[in-house]
Amino acid sequence: MTTRRQLPTVIEISQTVPEPSRRQFCAHACQAASLVAVSALLPACGGGGDDGNPTSPSDPATNQALPVVAGSTSGRTVSVPTGGALSTPNSVALVTSPLGSFLVFRNSLTSFTVLTAVCTHEGCTVDQYNGQLYVCPCHNSKYTTSGQVANGPANRALTTFPSTLSGDTLTFNA
Ligand code: FES
Repeated sequence: MTTRRQLPTVIEISQTVPEPSRRQFCAHACQAASLVAVSALLPACGGGGDDGNPTSPSDPATNQALPVVAGSTSGRTVSVPTGGALSTPNSVALVTSPLGSFLVFRNSLTSFTVLTAVCTHEGCTVDQYNGQLYVCPCHNSKYTTSGQVANGPANRALTTFPSTLSGDTLTFNA
C-alpha cells in the first residue's frame, strides 16, 4: 500500500520588482551614453594618427626601426663607416655617437644627407623609417630624408650637417 505524501501547498508570492524611477532611468541612460561616447574616442587617443596626442604610437605595420651604425668622434667631428647598412644608394641608418644621434641617408655612391635625430617637436630620437620618411616614435611626426617636415605635430625641419666622404668613412661636424 502506497501512501501519498502530501505536498506542501505552494504559496505564491507575488514579488514585484519596483520599476526604476524616472530619475534612475535617466541616470542609467546617461551612463550608457557616456560609455558609448568614450569608446568612440578611444581609437583617436591610441590609434597612431597624426593628431599629436602624446600617447599615439607610430604605425608598427609600416615603420621599421632604422639600422644602427656606431660613429666615432674626435673633438666635434663624427666619423661614420659607410659599409654595411649605408653601403648602397637610398640606404638609411641611425648613427649613434657620444655627440648625439644622427640620421644618415645615402643619396648616391658619393653623396649623403646627415640630419640630427632629435625630433623638433619634443626632442624624442627619430629612429624609425617607413621606406620613404623618417618617423618619430613619440607622436608620429614624419620627416623627408632631407629633413623637411612631412607630417606634424613637428613644425620645424631637422638640422642638416654637411658631410664629406673619404674612402669608406663619412665625416661631419656636430
Ligand atoms: S617628439 Fe613629438 S613627434 Fe617627435
